[in-house]
Amino acid sequence: MAQTFETVGVVGLGTMGAGIAEVFARSGRRVIGVEADDVALERGRGHLERSTGRAVAKGKLTEDAQREILGRVTLTTSRADLADADLVIEAIPEIMEFKRVLFADLDRVCKPSAVLATNTSSLSVTAIAAGTSRPGRVIGMHFFNPAPVMKLVEVIHTVVTDDGLADDIAALARSLGKTPITAGDRAGFVVNRLLLGYLNHACVLLEAGVAGRDDIDAAMKLGVGLPMGPFTLLDLIGLDTSYEVCEVLFRETRDRRHAPAPVLRELVTAGLLGRKTGRGFYSYG
Ligand code: CAA
Repeated sequence: MAQTFETVGVVGLGTMGAGIAEVFARSGRRVIGVEADDVALERGRGHLERSTGRAVAKGKLTEDAQREILGRVTLTTSRADLADADLVIEAIPEIMEFKRVLFADLDRVCKPSAVLATNTSSLSVTAIAAGTSRPGRVIGMHFFNPAPVMKLVEVIHTVVTDDGLADDIAALARSLGKTPITAGDRAGFVVNRLLLGYLNHACVLLEAGVAGRDDIDAAMKLGVGLPMGPFTLLDLIGLDTSYEVCEVLFRETRDRRHAPAPVLRELVTAGLLGRKTGRGFYSYG
């Protein structure tokens, strides 16, 4: 029988981690959210309260239901609190060294049967798994931004993933109301491999003066029926994440489509990371 993963840890409560924690809490599971320090923990709490609060304001969730959802989430700065988790999902920045250190720690703290998952957008799940004593129980579970809304989960298996684990994680994704697809451990998997080349290309067109920001966004939204134009979407994903994913894809594929456009690098260097910092290609009030 497929594992049901009743207690789920989420490490890193930024935009993605907080969204993932909300998705699990909404499914009735107990969630342990871990952040590095109290400031980050409070920011994570703010994400959770705002996101569920918006659903209450829209009449999609009662205040009682919101309280129940938030009540299922325990927030902590201690990784030791993950000892009982059946599954831990990592959603920290896309820096391999950080992930390797974290997974070594999770491997030590979590029970042997626990599954350790990464929400990485582009890094090697195999390399993350190889740094643990349980590589067969390490897997990619990649959500999309905003996690409470987007229906897809990419399940990434490696050459050493235990038989049946990808199926269990796909079943878990279905139980969250998501649709899973499975993919092998290749840079960017499916979505980012296709999407980031397009988004980066939009930056190249902007810099070449082919059209302005608003016109490129309007073109792709109205001409292709996408929910957002490329610059609005880059701001939503985060320019730092987009830049890092492009770098990894370029390194792995040597495909010039993924060579990060200079404007992307400039904005990241200036700390203009999109919605989360209030300014990216657009400004947010
Ligand atoms: N958290 C929770 N819920 C949110 C939300 C958020 N951050 N943003 C929007 N929503 C909810 C709204 O509450 C609303 O819910 P209801 O339908 O229940 O009322 C619903 O989403 C629609 O929102 P809006 O009406 O405000 O706005 P919209 O119709 O423009 O939709 C959107 C917003 C869902 C973000 C839509 O524009 C969209 O799908 N954009 C594309 C997003 C996308 O492509 N994401 C993938 C990025 S790639 C990625 O994430 C991978 C990676 O690794 C980099």
